[in-house]
Amino acid sequence: MDTQFDLTIRNGRISNADATFNADIGIRDGVIVAVQPGLPPGREDVDATGRWVLPGGVDSHCHIEQLSGMGVMCADDFYSGTVSAAFGGTTTILSFAAQHRNDRIPDVLADYHRRAAEKAVIDYGFHLILTNPDETALREHLPQAVRDGISSLKVYMTYDKLKLDDYQLLDVMDTAGELGALVMMHAENHDMIRWIAHRLLERGHTAPKFHAVAHDPLVETEATNRAITLSRLVDVPVLIVHVSGGETIEVIRKAQQMGASVLAESCPQYLFLEASDSDADGMEGAKYCCSPPPRDAASQEAVWAGLLDGTLGVYSSDHAPYRFDASGKLPKGDKTTFKEMANGVPGIELRLPLLFSEGVLKGRMTIEQFVALTATNHARIYGMAGRKGVIAVGADADIALWDPTRQVDVSAGMLHDNVGYTPYEGRSLTGWPTDVFSRGRSVVRDGELKAERGSGRFVVRGRPEVPRAGAEGESRRAFKALIGMKHAARYSR
Ligand code: URP
Ligand code: ZN
Ligand code: ZN
Repeated sequence: MDTQFDLTIRNGRISNADATFNADIGIRDGVIVAVQPGLPPGREDVDATGRWVLPGGVDSHCHIEQLSGMGVMCADDFYSGTVSAAFGGTTTILSFAAQHRNDRIPDVLADYHRRAAEKAVIDYGFHLILTNPDETALREHLPQAVRDGISSLKVYMTYDKLKLDDYQLLDVMDTAGELGALVMMHAENHDMIRWIAHRLLERGHTAPKFHAVAHDPLVETEATNRAITLSRLVDVPVLIVHVSGGETIEVIRKAQQMGASVLAESCPQYLFLEASDSDADGMEGAKYCCSPPPRDAASQEAVWAGLLDGTLGVYSSDHAPYRFDASGKLPKGDKTTFKEMANGVPGIELRLPLLFSEGVLKGRMTIEQFVALTATNHARIYGMAGRKGVIAVGADADIALWDPTRQVDVSAGMLHDNVGYTPYEGRSLTGWPTDVFSRGRSVVRDGELKAERGSGRFVVRGRPEVPRAGAEGESRRAFKALIGMKHAARYSR
């Protein structure tokens, strides 16, 4: 039968970041070509009656097949990581291509490209982790990476092998501003952590629960304030990743209110876990340790508020998967101190179901806010607007069908990552993505994987869409001209 559509998804309730409506979707060659009621069936026709039809999630912060600063390999490669993402309703990931200090950036990028192209089942892009911002990196390699569609980079203010000092951070921001690239900041004060940790270890406080003590909230607040101040000095946008709670969010909110070009992200662990979770028997607590650490109930409330009022524009997983053994979390078995544990928690598959169940279905946020925080804002901020994170004519057909009534009891065994545990074990969630399409290809259908290894594609990203600095940005023009900075005018919006 000849039909104008390869695939139709009909009779569903569609939500985008700005509206919810009933319509059918017509897809041809992987692209949405019609969104309207009453479409005729395509060659393949999916009946979405009773399900919500949402843009596939975009997870703009996950660590896949990456060697950490401490030299530990993630448990997920680009196959298990993207399969797990897809089962949780995500159709695009932005993971990290990590430079270690002696690495040549073009070699790093070629290596990640090769591995992802062989294995990914959904679309992907990379942020470059920059640990050696020398002249060659800043003048040659970073501009080339941006031209090749990697328009964001992450820098660290802590970890011995990753951290940049303030001088280097300014150099990176200056270059990013010229290129129109977005700087993502891991904002924690290195020396505060070192100092607290030293005193804890001296007193024999080695258990996982002391990780959260060493990473006191003020560690994060100080570094966030400094990162924002550096970015204001040079009038270059910055995005603070994995924000954990109250005072830090206040710092960000205040800077945004002043018109500074500051964006921020939070993650499931700051809504659904607490520091007290890491106070478990033996080494169990290590399963809940990430940096910054989960805090307390008041911090969780502050994160909810920040997500709802737009202070925190993106909700990502920060999936940092390490197995609970000597290859991952516990290099010295039960003798591992909190300083030696791999930092990070898994969450790529549960990111969306957790927020859908606890946010949307419990009435804390609208479905449109859910879509904005989990997909559309990521696409805009990271240079994929109109292509990803939206159900509209011309966009890639990245779509998840959600059954809002499905009850799921979370267990590690039901997940598709390669971690072997989940910090959300035993939670009861309502709502689950039953069918997931990437560029019109069925990736998950009725709980079964349909996509081939290597069928995901690299997403060449354009300019990040970031709020322009207000009056303060204008007032820094003369300063920037005086010190020879080229004007940062290359962000879209
Ligand atoms: O603890 C965390 N978040 N580990 C992952 C690495 C990072 O800094 O995002
Ligand atoms: Zn980080
Ligand atoms: Zn991370």
